[in-house]
Amino acid sequence: MTKYLVTGATGLLGDKAVKALLKRVPAEQVAISVRDPRKADEFAKLGVDVRQGDYDDAASLDRAFAGIERLLLISSQGDNDTRIKQHKTAVDAAKRAGVKFIAYTSAPNATHSKLFLAEVHKATEEAIQATGIPYSFLRNNWYVENETESVKGVLAGAPLITSAGAGLAGWTTRGDYAEAAAIVLSGEGHQNTIYELSGKLSTYDDYAAAISKAIGKEVSVQHVDDATYERIMTEAGLPAPIVQMLSLIQQGIRSGTLAVEGKDLAALLDRPVTSLEDAVAEVVREINASK
Ligand SMILES: NC(=O)c1ccc[n+]([C@@H]2O[C@H](COP(=O)([O-])OP(=O)(O)OC[C@H]3O[C@@H](n4cnc5c(N)ncnc54)[C@H](OP(=O)(O)O)[C@@H]3O)[C@@H](O)[C@H]2O)c1
Repeated sequence: MTKYLVTGATGLLGDKAVKALLKRVPAEQVAISVRDPRKADEFAKLGVDVRQGDYDDAASLDRAFAGIERLLLISSQGDNDTRIKQHKTAVDAAKRAGVKFIAYTSAPNATHSKLFLAEVHKATEEAIQATGIPYSFLRNNWYVENETESVKGVLAGAPLITSAGAGLAGWTTRGDYAEAAAIVLSGEGHQNTIYELSGKLSTYDDYAAAISKAIGKEVSVQHVDDATYERIMTEAGLPAPIVQMLSLIQQGIRSGTLAVEGKDLAALLDRPVTSLEDAVAEVVREINASK
C-alpha cells in the first residue's frame, strides 16, 4: 500500500494539497508532516496520519518520513540561506527514509532565473537530483492570493500600487497549484519531470481590470518607481524586511522573471487553468466574507 506524505500541510498551499490528495487516495494512505500536530486536528479526524516534523530538526523528519514512498515537499518560508539549509535537511531525510519519489514546489525557471528567491529552488532541485530519487519539480508561478492585502486596500478606496511596470506574471490560484501537486503525487508517469505551472501571463493593469470587473467599479493602477513603492509600503506600516522583499518581487516581475508560461498546469489538471478574472473574483469574495 503506497503511503503518501505532504509537508507544510498546515500552510495554505499544503492544506489544499492534502484535501486534493484525499479526493484521489484513501485517508489511510495519507500522512502529513507538520511542525505543530495540534493545528492538524481536522486531518487527524479524517484518518490522516499526522506526524511531527520540522525542517530544522533532522531527527523529527526521520520519524516523519519513515515508511513513506511518495513525498510532496512544500518549500519553507524565511531567508534564502535558512530555506536552503532546511530543504537540504528534508531531502537528506527523504533519502535516509528510502522515499521513492519527491515532488517539490519550486519556482519558475528555477535553474536560470534571476529572481532573488530562485537560488533556494535551484539549490533544492539540485539537492534532490543528487539523491538519485525520481522527482517532479512543480515550478509554481505566482499565487493570485499574494495580492490579497493590495486588493483589501483597493476595496477601501486605494489605487493598486506597483513598480513592476508592464512586467508579466503567471498568476493563478493556490487551489490550482495544490490540485496539480496532488495529481502528480498520486499519479503515474511523473518521474524526473519539470513542470512550469502558471496561469495566463498578465500585468498589474490586467490584475486591476479583474478587480474592476469583480467589484463593478473602475480601479486605477498607480505605477511608481522602486523608491516610491518602498516609501508607500513603509508608510503603510510594513516592516523593513517585508518592504525589501516586496520591492524585490516587483523588480523581479518587471524584469520578466515570472514571464514563464507553460501549458503544463492545464495539462495536469485536464481542464483550463482558473482565469485571472475568476481567481481575483474569488479573492474579493473571500475578503468580503471575512469582514
Ligand atoms: N508561488 C508563490 O506565489 C508563492 C508565494 C508565497 C510562498 N510560496 C512558497 O510556497 C510555500 C507554500 O506557500 P503557502 O502559501 O502555503 O505558505 P504558508 O501558508 O506560509 O505555508 C508555509 C508552510 O511551511 C511550513 N514551514 C515553515 N517552516 C517550517 C519548518 N521549519 N519546518 C517544517 N515546516 C515549516 C509552515 O508550517 P506551519 O504551518 O507550522 O507554519 C507552513 O505549513 C511557501 O512556504 C513558500 O516557499 C510561493
